[in-house]
Amino acid sequence: MTDPLLRVVDLKTYYRTSAGLVRAVDGVSFEVYKDETFCVVGESGCGKSTLALSIIRLVPYPGEIVGGKIIYRGTDLLKLPESEMRKIRGKEIAMIFQNPMNSLNPVFTIGFQIAEPPVIHFNMDGRSAWRRAVELIGKVRMPDPEVRARNYPHVLSGGMRQRSMIAMMISCEPKLLLADEPTTSVDVTVQAQLLNLLMNIKRERRMSMVLITHNFGLVAEVCNRVAVMYAGKIVELGPVREVFRNPVHPYTRGLMKCLPIGTKRKEQLYVIPGQPPNLIEPPPGCRFHPRCPHAMEKCKKEEPPLTEVEPNHYVACYLRR
Ligand SMILES: Nc1ncnc2c1ncn2[C@@H]1O[C@H](COP(=O)(O)OP(=O)(O)O)[C@@H](O)[C@H]1O
Ligand code: SF4
Ligand SMILES: [Mg+2]
Repeated sequence: MTDPLLRVVDLKTYYRTSAGLVRAVDGVSFEVYKDETFCVVGESGCGKSTLALSIIRLVPYPGEIVGGKIIYRGTDLLKLPESEMRKIRGKEIAMIFQNPMNSLNPVFTIGFQIAEPPVIHFNMDGRSAWRRAVELIGKVRMPDPEVRARNYPHVLSGGMRQRSMIAMMISCEPKLLLADEPTTSVDVTVQAQLLNLLMNIKRERRMSMVLITHNFGLVAEVCNRVAVMYAGKIVELGPVREVFRNPVHPYTRGLMKCLPIGTKRKEQLYVIPGQPPNLIEPPPGCRFHPRCPHAMEKCKKEEPPLTEVEPNHYVACYLRR
């Protein structure tokens, strides 16, 4: 395989709260290759957003990256001064947030906000940047781009805001897109459209993408490889086809069982019993052991390492070893 575009090595990001240290991302490693869509999937609270925010170094206070490396095209982003990091954000790596209002500024028109990044990063003149913004608004399939460009975010629907944000994020042609639950905030009816749009743009511009979702069903549709996260750690990682054909970790199997595919309409969907753990004092040993139907004595004491069970398919579990 070629060199990865992004290599995350043993990343640890903790929040120092008054209740204690929240180990939101606790020793996560993976690679993202050119043109690939890499999915991170897991229940709410397992550390997905913290992971994405760590990659572009936007972890909010009281969070802090306490260890690891984030190697982007050969450079460890964690070693860069903030001024250099600002040149990477948007231009090399862009992030689409779950809630578009976190990124859109209410006091500027969306045309202005889409035009601004190329002015900053490439010294593009204002007029060309505006023309390009209108073009991009058309590209993300918003009707009447000329009119839309003059709109403020608050007059747009949720779906249109998310489209504006996609236009803004691709305005500098980043090589890597981090999409954190990009369709969760919009109506179910527009979710599929929005995801299609995103995937088409990604393909057309030959970007790589890290797609974060709690929806395991979506993973099969769009991803090349998937990392299953549980309580701040990756518990299973591999090509999507392999992981779906042969899920090894009991948590991944649980997620598969939760999928509506193949269940009769009226039948209750399976829910993994128990609660996701508290990340201040996670369970010792395997963090999944309190919820695992196969837990053994060893699981309660020693943490299972991520090991290769078949080519490129890794699992952190004592079963099968
Ligand atoms: N700003 C914050 N301050 C303190 N704890 C936080 C903060 N943001 C997230 N966390 C905690 O970090 C853990 C991971 O959260 P998050 O990364 O948002 O997970 P996900 O995106 O998978 O839902 C959770 O336990 C959450 O409560
Ligand atoms: S290591 Fe043990 S507790 Fe953890 S998932 Fe595997 S069998 Fe279950
Ligand atoms: Mg999140």
